[in-house]
Amino acid sequence: MHIYIKKAKYSGYCFGVSRAIKLAEDILKKNHGKKTKIFTLGPIIHNPGVTNKLEKKGLISVENLEEIIPGSIFIIRSHGMPPLLVNEIKKKNIKIIDATCPFVKKAQARAKDLSKNGYFVAIVGNRDHPEVIGIKSHVLNKNYVIIEDEANAGKITIKEKIGVVVQTTQPMEKLCLITGKLLEKTKELIVFNTICNTTRRRQSSTKKLANSVDMMIVVGGRNSANTKHLVEISKKCSALTYHIENYKEIKSQWFNNIKKVGISGGASTPVEDIIDVEEAIKKL
Ligand code: F3S
Repeated sequence: MHIYIKKAKYSGYCFGVSRAIKLAEDILKKNHGKKTKIFTLGPIIHNPGVTNKLEKKGLISVENLEEIIPGSIFIIRSHGMPPLLVNEIKKKNIKIIDATCPFVKKAQARAKDLSKNGYFVAIVGNRDHPEVIGIKSHVLNKNYVIIEDEANAGKITIKEKIGVVVQTTQPMEKLCLITGKLLEKTKELIVFNTICNTTRRRQSSTKKLANSVDMMIVVGGRNSANTKHLVEISKKCSALTYHIENYKEIKSQWFNNIKKVGISGGASTPVEDIIDVEEAIKKL
């Protein structure tokens, strides 16, 4: 069957993910054959294919700090971490390599400054996401709220002044809706749009593509926040949308009566995975 395929202008690894993977690979290479163990708390990035490869090279992802052994190396993943936990690890004679994305660090610093200056901090994002857990830990005196949607924003009580920071991978539309609601809750609202440029570019190129095809395939980890947002954006454009982690999930019946297909990928999706999907569609 002949299918026209177009890839989103921006997809594949972002700067922060490339940097974290490179740091991990360099450390693994340097310590190859040595006894030193190398840990992360949770997966270094949200892409199971990539993390499996790194695990095979020796990277150990654990769920609890207690599992990290003294004398080892610990990599802070791109989403960042609460300073309290980092200090706990430091006490155990563990070398720390910080792979926190600089854009995430900026959001953490903004949250800290806002709270220092007396603002009630509204963090727009998913409360269970490691990045948001890291950002909230920088707010002084726990003077914050996490806002996941417009409804949450509508529930907060009136505040003297509110400062907003955003999880770097949130959709722009959501931020706009939430800040609109927050304006009703205060006389002074300051918004730091900490959505990173990479995310913005990926979201707008996915939207543009989704509006011009019959079907979209978004490639990326099911645990990847930014990939899930691309899926949401695509669905809002009414494009039939499938979220897959790799080309093996493609089913030929999806393509009945489909003439144009768009492919997009999250910031933690290797460009090779996107090319694999393209090749698999060509072979249908
Ligand atoms: Fe950093 Fe943005 Fe990627 S915050 S990790 S460059 S999606």
